[in-house]
Amino acid sequence: MDRIMIFDTTLRDGEQSPGAALNVDEKIEITHLLEQMGVDIIEAGFPISSPGDFRAVQRISREIRDCVICGLTRANQKDIDVAAEALQRAARPRIHTGLGVSDVHIKYKLRTTREKALEQGVEAVKYAKRFVEDVQYYAEDAGRADPEYLYRVLEAVIDAGATVVNIPDTTGYTTPQEWGALIRGITENVPNIHKATISVHCHNDLGMATANSLTGIANGARQVECTINGIGERAGNASLEEIVMALHTRRDVFGMTTGINTRLIYPTSRLVSNLTGIVVQPNKAIVGANAFAHSSGIHQDGVLKERTTYEIINPREVGVPDSEIILSARSGRHGLRHRLTELGYTLDDGQFEKAYQRFLEVADKKKTVDTRDLEAIVADEVQVFFDETYHLEHVQVSCGDHSIPTATVRIRGPDGQVFCDADHGTGPVDAVCRAINRVIGEPNELIEFSIQAVTEGIDAVGRVTIRIEADDPVSENGVERRVFSGRGADTDIVVASAKAYMFALNRLLAARREAALQQGGQG
Ligand code: KIV
Ligand code: ZN
Repeated sequence: MDRIMIFDTTLRDGEQSPGAALNVDEKIEITHLLEQMGVDIIEAGFPISSPGDFRAVQRISREIRDCVICGLTRANQKDIDVAAEALQRAARPRIHTGLGVSDVHIKYKLRTTREKALEQGVEAVKYAKRFVEDVQYYAEDAGRADPEYLYRVLEAVIDAGATVVNIPDTTGYTTPQEWGALIRGITENVPNIHKATISVHCHNDLGMATANSLTGIANGARQVECTINGIGERAGNASLEEIVMALHTRRDVFGMTTGINTRLIYPTSRLVSNLTGIVVQPNKAIVGANAFAHSSGIHQDGVLKERTTYEIINPREVGVPDSEIILSARSGRHGLRHRLTELGYTLDDGQFEKAYQRFLEVADKKKTVDTRDLEAIVADEVQVFFDETYHLEHVQVSCGDHSIPTATVRIRGPDGQVFCDADHGTGPVDAVCRAINRVIGEPNELIEFSIQAVTEGIDAVGRVTIRIEADDPVSENGVERRVFSGRGADTDIVVASAKAYMFALNRLLAARREAALQQGGQG
């Protein structure tokens, strides 16, 4: 069986999703899990795009030894110089350069001609080869390009030394039949194609990214580009979990393998969702909350008699934990430690103690704590990769159909001083946010608010995810960032909302501090 190379671009194309920006520590946490999962290539960022991206690619290059580390550039020397510098310490560096091949890109975006664009691409590959052996070339918007011109570009860049040619359906326009024919056409019409690997990079604007990636593989591609949970520009990229599980489940059809440890799919999906603040839709294939839930009586009956009547994948195979195992306050530290280890969490003593205290609070309110509650606890207490400036100690709300929603908050500030303040609002969440704003004084707008029940039942833990937009952006070397996400979980949804709001504000303040530190360091 042929092996398909998995190229993960969660930290580059995925991070281009609006408001998904991650800090360097968060990216490092994700890359360690991607490495453990067996991803072959990690596209760590676009080094020239921001100082944060540069630092992330640099650190990932130092810390990740088992994957190829790739940095994106446009087809010019400055971009390539910066990427080469960021990748300097990588065990296996790859520069990913390229430019548009469709007439609409050449004419309107690049404002050049086909011939000049081809020359520019060739020069970029030759220049990148001065720094690294492994150069990947992207033919942007290949899905809408004239195939004859695309073949010429690919032949020329392979002659210049490209080791991988990336064929992107940048706008998600192509159908599986067309895409399969295009990839087949490349294998038949590019004379030197045997010297390079064909990669497919599909976007999901018409919901066909996974289907297109798979037809690309069936027609000759041996590398596939994807993101965890399918996050990415607009409607997103092809999703890693869907491609990997399709290849795995239907190996009778595709006859291909990957190096992915599928049991790490679900934990990685949760981590990416928690850190980016991008909620996974419940009916999302493989990793959605309902992907393995059977609600109709007929289906439940079938699955109880024989799992495979309605399940084509065993949830354990993708790392979905058994939610039947429950703990209570009586389980103690030992029981909690044991269950967290079973779920794949390695916590140091400080992290464990925080998780334990929170576990006791939840167990006190709910009596029993299941796997999904534990995931929410770990996300809240452990998966936090910035220093908190303000700590919410207490929140109290009064509301009802004939009263003015009012909130009082007690917040501990950076020097340990305690602030107490209150405000009213259009509803309890608005009142809480206003009260918090009176203390912290960081002008912003709440632009997104979503709430999900982590578990079933009236005592369910609610998870709130929010996004705020800062009036005053965080800027570093001319690159501005305004949108920050936050999350919080609690059996009380108003408390969960307060936590999520504090999380986003603390994240914004940490990014401001980091930017000031970096500017100071350069000045
Ligand atoms: O979608 C696209 O064309 C891209 C390229 C930069 C590879 O993301
Ligand atoms: Zn893309």
